[in-house]
Amino acid sequence: STALRVALLGCGTVGSEVARLLIGQAHDLQARVGRPLELVGIAVRRAGRDRAGIDPALFTTDAPALVTRDDVDLVIEVIGGIEPARSLILAALRHGKSVVTANKALLAEDGGTLFAAAEQAGVDLYFEAAVAGAIPIIRPLRESLVGDEITSVIGIVNGTTNFILDKMDSEGAGFAETLAEAQELGYAEADPTADVEAFDAAAKAAILASLAFHTRVTAGDVYREGITEVSTTDIASAREMGSVVKLLAICQLSSGDDGREQSVSVRVHPAMIPRSHPLAGVGGAYNAVFVESRSAGRLMFYGPGAGGGPTASAVLGDLVTVARNRVRGASGPGESTYAARPISPIGSV
Ligand code: NDP
Ligand code: HSE
Repeated sequence: STALRVALLGCGTVGSEVARLLIGQAHDLQARVGRPLELVGIAVRRAGRDRAGIDPALFTTDAPALVTRDDVDLVIEVIGGIEPARSLILAALRHGKSVVTANKALLAEDGGTLFAAAEQAGVDLYFEAAVAGAIPIIRPLRESLVGDEITSVIGIVNGTTNFILDKMDSEGAGFAETLAEAQELGYAEADPTADVEAFDAAAKAAILASLAFHTRVTAGDVYREGITEVSTTDIASAREMGSVVKLLAICQLSSGDDGREQSVSVRVHPAMIPRSHPLAGVGGAYNAVFVESRSAGRLMFYGPGAGGGPTASAVLGDLVTVARNRVRGASGPGESTYAARPISPIGSV
């Protein structure tokens, strides 16, 4: 049967693993989708580099031409950052391609524009990899729990900073050397300031809060404090008190005095938590997200939060889903119906 044709934007830590799996597991993916998935082009910034055994003929530096090619059905964006990722995704959606992205920075800054474009074109925009790597958390919030009322989402959503804090605690390691190791392992953002100053966790918190509370929270709405001020002395003092230091994202829905007016608060900052708390045991680049809702009660999602393999797993899951939708002439959950909930200044919750 006719192949669904896939364009890949970016071939770094995540993209190279996505390409490897798309090519290496083509047979299994075909069985799951019902049609072959054919990788027809990979856009990168620098031409002529050795790309770990991937056919050099697939590469191009002309991403705008690739995403608008008539024969492309599905586009995966793993370049990162705001531009050119936003223009490329918008062009793809407007040309009727379904899009899978891992780009939390862009979704948290301007997700509304992307969702509106997807809605208008009647195509899919999936982004499971944008929050907490391999952990399924977007679908649970966007689909499984959408009939419930979520009241809080609290978690460790940045692998790099968790890796650093964990090593500073367990091995007395220094900040700079551990950050370098996290970069080496492919956990960190291209500019690791995004990790250590918590811009990345704030973007993820904005995405989680928007989905959980059916409102639109952007990165700028999130109170943000990173880990650069956390010293080995702070970590040692926490240990003496039976606690650990973790970078937490905290998203809460609160009711006003009259019990009706609801507001949302979202913040990211280092916090001391007792060693007996389940979040204290989240080590390395693992992430964990607690969700509390009216009917379900308390749920916990836990697993690898960063790195090429775990992130590619989430991207491929999305790719199979949007491909299946395309085969059936269907599309997944579009833009939610958003309630205009006020965002609380921190301190009022
Ligand atoms: P990398 O920096 O490793 O890779 C980025 C890729 O994009 C490179 O192949 C680069 O090309 C290409 N690129 C950069 N600019 C352009 C451009 N203007 N046109 C075309 N291609 C371009 O990033 P990652 O793979 O780590 O991350 C990709 C995305 O996934 C980001 O949004 C990130 O936030 C997200 N993510 C990353 C995770 C991780 O653990 N690493 C986890 C979850 C999400 P070249 O190779 O030529 O430099
Ligand atoms: N830099 C991010 C992290 C990648 O360390 O969590 C996963 O989103």
